Amino acid sequence: MIYQENTQAIYRKDYQQPDFFIDSVDLHFSLDEDVTLVHSRMTIRPRTENQKKPLILNGELLVLKSLKFNGHVLNATQYHVDKTHLTLPNVPAEAFELESIVEIKPQENTALTGLYQSSGNYCTQCEAEGFRRITYFLDRPDVMARYTTTIVADKSRYPVLLSNGNRVEYGELNDGRHWVKWADPFPKPSYLFALVAGNLYCHGGKFTTRSGREVRLEIWVEPQNHDQCEHALQSLQKAMRWDEERFGLEYDLDIYMIVAVGDFNMGAMENKGLNVFNAKFVLCRPDTATDDDYEGIEAVIAHEYFHNWTGNRVTCRDWFQLTLKEGLTVFRDQQFTEDMTSAAVKRIQDVRILRSAQFAEDQSPMAHPIRPESYIEMNNFYTVTVYNKGAEVIRLYQTLLGKDGFRRGMDLYFQRHDGQAVTCDDFRAAMADANQVDLTQFERWYDQAGTPVVEASGVYDATAKTYALTLRQQVPEHLQAWHIPVAVGLLGKEGQDLSLQLEETAPAKTTQVLELRELEQTFTFKNISELPIPSLLRHFSAPIKLNFSCQRQELAFLMAHDSDPFNRWEAGQQFAQQVIFDLLADWQAGKTLQLDALFSEAVLKILQDDKLDGSIKSLMLTLPTENFLGQQQAEVAVDGLFAVRQFVLKQLAEVHYAEWLAIYRANHQMPYSNSATAIACRRLKNTALHYICRLDTPETVNLAEKQFKQSDNMTDQQSALMCLVNTFSEERGQAIEYFYQQWRHNPLVLDKWFSVQATSYLPDTFDNVKALLQHQDFTLKNPNRARSLIAVFSQNQAQFHRADGLAYQLHADIVLQLNATNPQIASRFVSVFNHWRRFDANRQALMQAQLNRIIQHPNLSKDVYEVVSKSLNVKG
Ligand code: TRP
Ligand code: ZN
Repeated sequence: MIYQENTQAIYRKDYQQPDFFIDSVDLHFSLDEDVTLVHSRMTIRPRTENQKKPLILNGELLVLKSLKFNGHVLNATQYHVDKTHLTLPNVPAEAFELESIVEIKPQENTALTGLYQSSGNYCTQCEAEGFRRITYFLDRPDVMARYTTTIVADKSRYPVLLSNGNRVEYGELNDGRHWVKWADPFPKPSYLFALVAGNLYCHGGKFTTRSGREVRLEIWVEPQNHDQCEHALQSLQKAMRWDEERFGLEYDLDIYMIVAVGDFNMGAMENKGLNVFNAKFVLCRPDTATDDDYEGIEAVIAHEYFHNWTGNRVTCRDWFQLTLKEGLTVFRDQQFTEDMTSAAVKRIQDVRILRSAQFAEDQSPMAHPIRPESYIEMNNFYTVTVYNKGAEVIRLYQTLLGKDGFRRGMDLYFQRHDGQAVTCDDFRAAMADANQVDLTQFERWYDQAGTPVVEASGVYDATAKTYALTLRQQVPEHLQAWHIPVAVGLLGKEGQDLSLQLEETAPAKTTQVLELRELEQTFTFKNISELPIPSLLRHFSAPIKLNFSCQRQELAFLMAHDSDPFNRWEAGQQFAQQVIFDLLADWQAGKTLQLDALFSEAVLKILQDDKLDGSIKSLMLTLPTENFLGQQQAEVAVDGLFAVRQFVLKQLAEVHYAEWLAIYRANHQMPYSNSATAIACRRLKNTALHYICRLDTPETVNLAEKQFKQSDNMTDQQSALMCLVNTFSEERGQAIEYFYQQWRHNPLVLDKWFSVQATSYLPDTFDNVKALLQHQDFTLKNPNRARSLIAVFSQNQAQFHRADGLAYQLHADIVLQLNATNPQIASRFVSVFNHWRRFDANRQALMQAQLNRIIQHPNLSKDVYEVVSKSLNVKG
């Protein structure tokens, strides 16, 4: 096999400090459609005195035009250049200056890392290792330098020239070009460098910090999007205020800029003072963006803003520490959203993501601890494990130490490490030291992969009036016990919370956080005067699987009464899961299916509960996904799960038809508002519409069609379209065409058009997806567009995992195309095949065949190679 790129793994244990530091760098960009010149002048200093180490700089896809050492031109015998490095074998033991000029071609950059073009504008993406595609450098996060950046470009085509920090000088040249010089006073790693040049509109605003400094805020977008920026600006202002109030953290420059670009591999990037965003997380207007889009924008804007302290002021020593900034920053944005919207709704949404994507990753050959031990391509480790499980691990500190204790730990972390590049151990030490607790065992959350499984069992002693709860963690052979906080409540007969006392001296509470540190521990509650129903793992207090055998009556009881809204939802999900798996057994035995009456009744109670918030209610009325259900099985029963889930949905629709319709009518309000109440109404109403449309009668189609045509907002329009796309009606095709004509000139809305069609559960979905690949507006070059069709379809379990394997083949074709143009996206897409061993023999063989085909491809990127080789378990 021929692998063009080096596929050697890099190990965490091999970390060594850099031999050289770069204290300052002065960059000069001459942007041109043909070749762009990058001139760099660096002051470099050996780490230790008298060292005789060669200077090895990273650099890829660069054409070196000139190299000067302390002002003297070097000739080709004095340095060595290969595909990935520039080496100077002999450098002095004191500080020196190195100056280079390289040529790059951003217009040919389809990988969207380094300097590239999007809609004719220039922008950069340097994390993790993209800066080396711009100039020769020590491209690693523990090398922090002060940057000045001068950008020269044609003034008419690129009137706006941006980089990190403050704009210090500007001027015009006599050939129609102009220039701007930026200076960033804060030393930073190269991955936080950014440059933007283009024709952009500025939506401006301001923020006054609590110490009274005025900060200029700028949202930069393509001119036609000028009317879609206000929500992003307000989100930024809210995030800035929240970080001051919750963590005492203020912004530190006089200007904060956000640029929206159409072509972007990820969500957004926290470059110092100059965030670059996927336009999807900036632009919105009621008629073009859904309620979920609005929330996503607020969360991502906050996330990138929060990085200014957790990531930029205190950064990572090496990429194995990625969760130090990402887990912590995701946790911070989750807490922010909990405060801005509803804590319960946000918690449920976050746990759904964790369970469906991260628990699945833990079950796959790409499983890794939140702090990985090795990688071939770092870009493959921007994962739900590092991000979302990482955030859960940060949440554990807060659960164990309390909000105030967590804040003390954060304060100490900044006090100790501001301006440094540090490790996860440094963070854990700050938490431990600030609270004088021992967090040694806690390190296992960082070095052990996998989802801990905990078995719970309870014994009630009526005479002693005690309830003894035993928790037992199943620890795989080569691993050790985790330190797990388990939040517990006990409910009495009336559904009331019982008062819980663990020790004589400790205060009684209705929720107690039990600390499970051993393989098995029993916790005994006293003065429990009636047989309680336990509510375990409240608010999902740890990222584990908790097994506790519960009768259906008990689940129905918790579903109706638990004071912890998360567990109320959870009881409903477990109930639904039991019902579905029982029906699956019947389906597999060829029996006629009948919906469990107790479940149907429990659903009715939720439907009729007037005290429940509409957002929670609609989550409680949503069944676990096929993907999640499949994870609970030894072998995913693709067709059975699909059939049974469809059956349950249709039954619930029919049995409670009158209630669904009543809910629909009661919540169908016009006109649009974006208040929390209005959002809750829309969520509930659209959940009802989805059930109603399961019946696929002329009346139900008509209801959806009316909403589709009359709605004044994208939430309602998209929901209605999704309903229609799942009917066999004539209106289906008409709606698809109507939506296309209405929105064909708005790329973000057109993405929705592709996605909605790819999510349909009707049997013609694969053929439609194939046809859409040929659509004039489809392109693999734009990551959002590629995801909207390909990634979305690959998550459509029953349709993607067709028994004939045709969807697998098509998917592999696309992965190979993307491998050549955008390896990061190719690698993300190929990851669906990671789960191949969890399917039946036929599907396994079909997926394995595609993986084998991919790995034999002659020019495989390391991104795709790493995932596929791990998937196939290829050694070395
Ligand atoms: N640090 C970014 C974040 O906020 C992640 C990111 C953006 C990224 N673009 C990227 C990571 C490209 C790798 C490659 O989470
Ligand atoms: Zn981040």
